[in-house]
Amino acid sequence: MVRVRARVEVMHGVNLDQLGRRDPAHYGHLTLTELELQISETAAELGLETRFFQTNHEGEFVEHLHQLEGLAEGIVLNPGAWTHYSYAIRDALELTGLPAVEVHLSDVDSREPWRRESVIGELCVGRVAGKGPGGYREALDCLRKEFSR
Ligand code: DQA
Repeated sequence: MVRVRARVEVMHGVNLDQLGRRDPAHYGHLTLTELELQISETAAELGLETRFFQTNHEGEFVEHLHQLEGLAEGIVLNPGAWTHYSYAIRDALELTGLPAVEVHLSDVDSREPWRRESVIGELCVGRVAGKGPGGYREALDCLRKEFSR
């Protein structure tokens, strides 16, 4: 029997390419490349396949979501600051129809009040915040459970 591993699109938004330079108290020391490597290793352990995307341009993030049809079974996304106000990303995420998990490295709920708002939260099957890179394992695990439902 050929077993096809479920494909997860891992999407990072604005300023996440600057990990390693951003405040380590909130974001740790890993660069985005190091974080993505860690996520892909975790995904392999969980029997999932990952593909990565990052952009600082909101329209590109939206278009990437538009193009996911047939290419992924689920999405892990950390849209950065867009999380808190981008209805364009919210609508594009809804359009995918895919199960998605929202991740934040930092504890957005105990930072500035505006970070508590998420315009994508209601569309997601899970949300992980404040657990650093380990939060991505939780997010992948959440999707894996969703796939086996
Ligand atoms: C973030 C939290 C956001 O509020 C912030 O704008 C980011 C990163 C996080 O991973 O903790 O850029 O999404």
